[in-house]
Amino acid sequence: MTSAAPTTRLALRGDLLDFTAEPVWGEVESNAVRFRPDHWLLIEGGRIVGAQLVEPDASWVKHDHRGRLILPGFIDTHVHMPQLEVIASYGTELLDWLNTYTFPAETRFADPAYSKAGAAEFVDALLAHGTTAAVVFPTVHKVSVDALFGAAQQRGMRMITGKVLQDRHSPDGLRDDVVQAERDCLDLIERWHGRERLAYAVTVRFAPTSTPAQLAMAGALCAADASLYMQTHVAENRAEVKWAGELFPEARSYLDIYARAGLLHPRSVLAHGIWLDDADRAALRDSGAQIAHSPSSNLFLGSGLFDWRASAQAGAAVSLASDVGGGTSLSMLRTMADAYKVQAMAGQRLTAWTALHAATRGGARALLLDDEIGSLEAGRTADVCVWDWAADPVSARRMGVARSLHEKAFAWMTMADDRNLVAAFIAGVARHRRTDTETASASA
Ligand code: GUN
Ligand code: ZN
Repeated sequence: MTSAAPTTRLALRGDLLDFTAEPVWGEVESNAVRFRPDHWLLIEGGRIVGAQLVEPDASWVKHDHRGRLILPGFIDTHVHMPQLEVIASYGTELLDWLNTYTFPAETRFADPAYSKAGAAEFVDALLAHGTTAAVVFPTVHKVSVDALFGAAQQRGMRMITGKVLQDRHSPDGLRDDVVQAERDCLDLIERWHGRERLAYAVTVRFAPTSTPAQLAMAGALCAADASLYMQTHVAENRAEVKWAGELFPEARSYLDIYARAGLLHPRSVLAHGIWLDDADRAALRDSGAQIAHSPSSNLFLGSGLFDWRASAQAGAAVSLASDVGGGTSLSMLRTMADAYKVQAMAGQRLTAWTALHAATRGGARALLLDDEIGSLEAGRTADVCVWDWAADPVSARRMGVARSLHEKAFAWMTMADDRNLVAAFIAGVARHRRTDTETASASA
């Protein structure tokens, strides 16, 4: 699978697209977009070192992808490793879906061999969809965290994950307790956090499955080390919101449960956030925490329509997430297409620029990782994907009549998926290649 040593000088030819700033909501003409058609992207020692129109000399290994699109790898800020096998489960909203399908599936990850195989399959599936960095839920079992970090490390991938904390309202085989959970977290942090491209996230499943004592323990971990991430779910489903309110009557809102426990900070990633109010959005902005908007999941589970524009206006960060297995595809392109439709239902229009930015530079910024990933700027790690503008005759016809760059990018975002992915590079190493691909290496 590995096609180049990290010290190799690699040049990729294609249409380079990335962002130098955050696009303004609703504007299709944007100075934040950097489009460099038919350029060579230069990669050395696993990092991007520049881009140019002229063909580089023979000291570069060249992959000629002219006529194709080259983007920073996508960042999925909320996805569940053990849920590949519950995607597309019929007929339930969130709480029944968890009890009927998801919790039983997750108990199987107590087995180290099952976890190891599942983690490898999951990480390869991310790469096959053009996702090169992710914030991931494994399970409550320590072995699932070791398996996931191990799989990411083997592939040199940027990954943020941590043991799921859940000590109540969960079935046998899927509960921990505060003392053992803290011990497991400390051990995992010691062994994985900050190692190569891996970072630990204090991972609270959601407020209803943690006791106040467990939330306090999670908050203390965050307080002890500001470099730790935190991930959880918030305000996804109306029945869930009501239940959280009953369990934590002292909190002003669902989000406030986490704020009171010290879990809202610049490295916090909260999935969904559909049923938030203005005070919640202000709290998100003030804390620097982000919402991982998961439109596919929100539609599939009938959870509701996220108000992206209200978050943007409040200054709260929004990234994009597949939330598989509530979401029905690992593809961040399918996710963007669903995000557009969610906004359309509310009479809003999501530009291709806001969507693509959120899945690249915006997600990276919200994770405080924009010095490393999310753009094609010199100095960034070369997590880069090569895409076909069209992978089928209908898309080709649509692309053929697109006049502006936004029209073309929007049609691509709406119609493309993993079939369009030609190659995914992690730190300049090809970790996924479509089998039918000709890369026309001009010289070695
Ligand atoms: N809330 C708590 N756990 C989950 C989960 O696994 N998926 C989703 N979508 N929401 C949750
Ligand atoms: Zn989720």
